[in-house]
Amino acid sequence: MIIAIDGPSASGKGTLARRLASHLGFAYLDTGSLYRAVALEVLEADADPRDAGAAALAARNLDFRTLDDPRLRAEKIGEAASLVAAIPKVRSELLAFQRNFAKTPPGGLKGAIIDGRDIGTVVCPDADLKIFITASPAVRVKRRILELEERGLPADPEAILSSVRLRDTRDEARKISPLRPAQDAHLLDTTNLDIDSAFKKACMILEAAGLFGKI
Ligand code: CDP
Repeated sequence: MIIAIDGPSASGKGTLARRLASHLGFAYLDTGSLYRAVALEVLEADADPRDAGAAALAARNLDFRTLDDPRLRAEKIGEAASLVAAIPKVRSELLAFQRNFAKTPPGGLKGAIIDGRDIGTVVCPDADLKIFITASPAVRVKRRILELEERGLPADPEAILSSVRLRDTRDEARKISPLRPAQDAHLLDTTNLDIDSAFKKACMILEAAGLFGKI
């Protein structure tokens, strides 16, 4: 079973997806970490994240065991990730890994929860369930600051606000795999929901879609 969770930067999709995955006993893939890992490789090679050749090479040679590297969480890596993510060759290099994870979840688990921007539209258009998470920009900025502070990373509110805005525009406006809900996605606005309430709402969506009976 495949559950696709998409949404803009810091909408809370990662927290929700992780919680759902552990509740259901599913594997979890944060596809943002793939683009962040490519961005880190490119920056470490002193190349420009807009350089299609350098970014595609980093994507082709990506070591998928490095996705937990704490350096990936820095906001400047998120920004560089949104640049490499607009390069078609980078996206195509990363597609097989994502689809394979969805089809054959690691550890022989019975399902996968995958979060990102284009999971419901491009990576897994046949997912059993699609959820598109939103939240107001102000709330997303607050959540991102808390997340960075918890990780001991720098979190300047002004800089975070402009970074979130910039990434939203870039992710929505790009030609390839733009951020947008799939036609059959369930919309979940978490602006006024804490983690527990968002989790409960998501469970209600799963229930209404008859998924619990199939797991
Ligand atoms: O953590 P946050 O929601 O801020 O971002 P992320 O999910 O880690 O993604 C970082 C960047 O990668 C995004 O701004 C997107 O440009 C890109 N991305 C994408 O294009 N497609 C995905 N499936 C996941 C991320």
